Amino acid sequence: MATPVLDKVEADSAASPYITVTFRIRRFNPEISDEAQWQDFQIEIDPKERVLDGLHKIKWDVDGSLTFRRSCAHGICGSDAMRINGKNRLACKTLIKDINPEKPITVEAIKGLTVLKDLVVDMEPFFQAYRDVMPFLITKGNEPTRERLQSAEDRERFDDTTKCILCAACTSSCPVFWNDGQYFGPAAIVNAHRFIFDSRDEAGEQRLEILNDKDGVWRCRTTFNCTDACPRGIEVTKAIQEVKRALITRRY
Ligand code: SF4
Ligand code: F3S
Ligand code: FES
Repeated sequence: MATPVLDKVEADSAASPYITVTFRIRRFNPEISDEAQWQDFQIEIDPKERVLDGLHKIKWDVDGSLTFRRSCAHGICGSDAMRINGKNRLACKTLIKDINPEKPITVEAIKGLTVLKDLVVDMEPFFQAYRDVMPFLITKGNEPTRERLQSAEDRERFDDTTKCILCAACTSSCPVFWNDGQYFGPAAIVNAHRFIFDSRDEAGEQRLEILNDKDGVWRCRTTFNCTDACPRGIEVTKAIQEVKRALITRRY
């Protein structure tokens, strides 16, 4: 006959939320090999936890050499975009239970940018395109003596594109960007949109000319991968279309 203590242990184990999950991670270390390789890790995890929690368990308890970026862990800093089961997502916003944990969960670096180690890519080309569109308010003339006012309707015109966290999930899911990496990419265009349509800004023409380049907005083939990938739900393709229209009509 089971003792009360054993009964308690069995009850606790029956209530355990943990399941065994396989993380299949694409590893790359240029100091060891020129080739990337898949490596499997089996861990116990609560399906209500996130892929980022699984990566932490592996790094902290199994293999400290696993390399990835993350900071806020709450979908704000944009540093942990990666390909999870073949789709760009933020590891900190992806619950294990939402991605079929019965099969191995594949995790690899985002595409189109040079992999430096494991899940870390060189973000410099991405940030260069961002800098190129001058992502800051530009005004001429006298300094204002009070706050620059804007109507609610004018603010609404670029509200969606203010939500960007520069995670690169959009740009690194774009087939045009994969092709040669020269295309400015959707994230840069989203951030140009944010200022082109801001009624207080006075450099819309300059930004439109920058995006009129051969590697600018016209290279977009309306594939919509960027919109599907955006963890902030920004209508990326719509913003790109609005910039194209502004280039044709010069109305913005
Ligand atoms: Fe990330 Fe969305 Fe910004 Fe692209 S538009 S960088 S996917 S937040
Ligand atoms: Fe690329 Fe998005 Fe255009 S995926 S082709 S930037 S609609
Ligand atoms: Fe900051 Fe995921 S860690 S967005």
